[in-house]
Amino acid sequence: MIELQPSEQGHEDYPFLVMQLQSLLADERDFIANAAQFSAFLFQQISDLNWAGFYLAKGDELVLGPFQGNVACVRIPFGRGVCGAAAATGKTQRVEDVHAFAGHIACDSASNSELVVPLFKDGRLFAVLDLDSPSLGRFSVADQAGIERLAEVFVELTDC
Ligand code: SME
Repeated sequence: MIELQPSEQGHEDYPFLVMQLQSLLADERDFIANAAQFSAFLFQQISDLNWAGFYLAKGDELVLGPFQGNVACVRIPFGRGVCGAAAATGKTQRVEDVHAFAGHIACDSASNSELVVPLFKDGRLFAVLDLDSPSLGRFSVADQAGIERLAEVFVELTDC
């Protein structure tokens, strides 16, 4: 098992996190195992989060998958809230203030900003990766690029 040192607040070293994630997932391709492990990895290694995990695309809605954090809403229709917007548009949603986002679904009243990355395998959307923070404007453009890169590594190393 690799030793994980948490990042200094707001100063994530994404190239280093990519190497850590590659080594964490190197010996396993099972979806549930890797998705659970990746959620825990993000929750431990990315500072200032209150939720990190997956919603899985099933039909025309998203269904709660492996995550770390408080209990959450189970089903989200495509197009609803930040996760639904990521699924419907296929584009990462980086929201500085979730209370100003039309249709935001308040699963945890502690959340103030959110980053949701849609995940594709062979051109098909199969899930979204959702990170929530209690801080306003927690996710910078650099954080978005770093988390998108980590998500790519997860998809490459997992049977999705
Ligand atoms: N706030 C999200 C719902 C999921 S929870 O944050 C875990 C949204 O608006 O999509």
